[in-house]
Amino acid sequence: MKQVRITGVGSYLPERVVTNDELSQRLDTSDEWIVSHTGISKRHLAAPGESTAAMSIAAAKRAMDDAGVKPEDIGIVILATSSPDHANMPATACDIQHGIGAVNAGAFDLIGACAGFVYALEVARGLLQCDGRPALVIGAERMSSIVDWTDRNTCILFGDAAGAVVLETCDAKGHQFYGSVLYSDGSGAELLRRQGGSWVDEDGRMVRPGPVEMQGRPVFNFAVKAMPRIAMELAERHGFDLHDINHIVAHQANFRIIDAAAKRLDIPRDRFYLNLQDVANTSSASIPLALQQMDEEGLLKEGDLILTVAFGAGLLSGGNLFRW
Ligand code: ACO
Repeated sequence: MKQVRITGVGSYLPERVVTNDELSQRLDTSDEWIVSHTGISKRHLAAPGESTAAMSIAAAKRAMDDAGVKPEDIGIVILATSSPDHANMPATACDIQHGIGAVNAGAFDLIGACAGFVYALEVARGLLQCDGRPALVIGAERMSSIVDWTDRNTCILFGDAAGAVVLETCDAKGHQFYGSVLYSDGSGAELLRRQGGSWVDEDGRMVRPGPVEMQGRPVFNFAVKAMPRIAMELAERHGFDLHDINHIVAHQANFRIIDAAAKRLDIPRDRFYLNLQDVANTSSASIPLALQQMDEEGLLKEGDLILTVAFGAGLLSGGNLFRW
């Protein structure tokens, strides 16, 4: 098996920042409620014309620069997103592939909601074993387009962003990317979803695509169990004690979920990176955006053991374990 590692990271955040106070001017909510229930203070929202592809292209170019990889060397472009620019055809990844000039690459979208990036990273790792050419793995969301801005249960939670990594084979001895665990529990599919799609009911009616619908409490209860289970299983599977992990990069959904996971795992909270206060839940962009910011802040040292863990609509859960 070839060794695989992340060689570059990049991200993009739209310029416009919307605070909780601004939201509470048009919605029956408050900064106090949002901060105490989620930890979120503000979020970045895309401007008109700023698409999922445009944000992804900006993040991808930064990741390729960081890795020193040319667009024509990329073998595959994988976009994890639940807010593609088109109604699934064509894949938004094709717009990105074209936009960055990855003329020799294949491209596809992967729908894994907030767990999309951890799924995409594992898929890219598998493809790299066969193809050998650098893979570009992007998580990007324009959540502001798919939430109902009159539904205070959901719209306050999300933000727009893109994050990207370049994954390459390397000659290093010893594992660089240990592996991933990926789970789905479709019995919880109705807890978090968007209605609509190609489905036609018995009376021949088609349901038009709607906004994100969520039953927050059961999703919360799922997350506080799934995150520690994934972290423990990943560490144990590869012979590590959880205390060996330098950084746990958890999906940035809610401070209370991350805090509960830290307590259940008996791991100091400062091992968990936190940026949700500034960017909210950016779904598939959450983990690559966090990795890029951690790198920029100088938190990541060569050889650091990093565990990612995420949950999302599906209900999906999963994580990756790798060295920086
Ligand atoms: N402002 C003020 N009040 C609010 C707001 C708001 N923005 N939202 C809900 N409330 C009210 C509710 O109406 C409810 O009022 P009621 O008691 O009069 O009915 C009250 O606050 C409490 O509501 P709960 O749902 O019990 O609040 P909870 O403590 O569960 O927090 C939250 C809600 C933050 C949504 C939490 O359940 C959560 O974080 N769940 C997980 C959600 C998540 O992470 N989703 C993303 C998944 S990833 C993906 O795939 C997209």
